[in-house]
Amino acid sequence: MVEVVSATQADIDWLVREDANAGKAWISRCVALGEYLVAKEAGEIVGFLRFSRFWGRVPYMEMIRIQTARRRSGVGTALFLAWEQAMRAEGARMLMTSSECDESRPQDWHHRNGFIETGAIELPGLQSVPEVFFIKHIG
Ligand SMILES: CC(C)(COP(=O)(O)OP(=O)(O)OC[C@H]1O[C@@H](n2cnc3c(N)ncnc32)[C@H](O)[C@@H]1OP(=O)(O)O)[C@@H](O)C(=O)NCCC(=O)NCCS
Repeated sequence: MVEVVSATQADIDWLVREDANAGKAWISRCVALGEYLVAKEAGEIVGFLRFSRFWGRVPYMEMIRIQTARRRSGVGTALFLAWEQAMRAEGARMLMTSSECDESRPQDWHHRNGFIETGAIELPGLQSVPEVFFIKHIG
């Protein structure tokens, strides 16, 4: 049974280990602002979703990741749907996310969740392939 909840201070060490690219300062900031959801099974974290807000207002899913052994069993969908519902309750009318252009599998998953591709940007010096952006209207 998967439960999706906002991450708390008690989850920070786990997130610092598992979401290592974000760095502890950003992780602590996201936890404090409620910008992390974690999926728990029997008290263990099995996946997380981290977001921020484009222009300070459009919810932007920066990262969703499920522990390898727990993939393809509905955890990612449960996390995403909980996030969508929370954002709708806040009055959001659009969701955003992005992914590297050669990551076809996560992109299939984004499409499955109702996202449509809306363009790509090159990030010379940061990333060797373009970043593709997706939006989903929820309003
Ligand atoms: C992409 C990811 C978040 C999906 O979460 P998940 O819990 O594995 O996916 P779910 O079980 O909720 O998926 C539900 C459906 O999507 C399908 N699906 C799952 N992963 C898929 C994938 N990579 N590509 C295409 N379809 C996929 C499943 O078949 C399932 O459909 P079904 O129930 O009809 O069989 C997860 O696989 C993951 O952490 N991947 C690595 C990190 C990543 O790529 N993150 C996204 C970019 S930031």
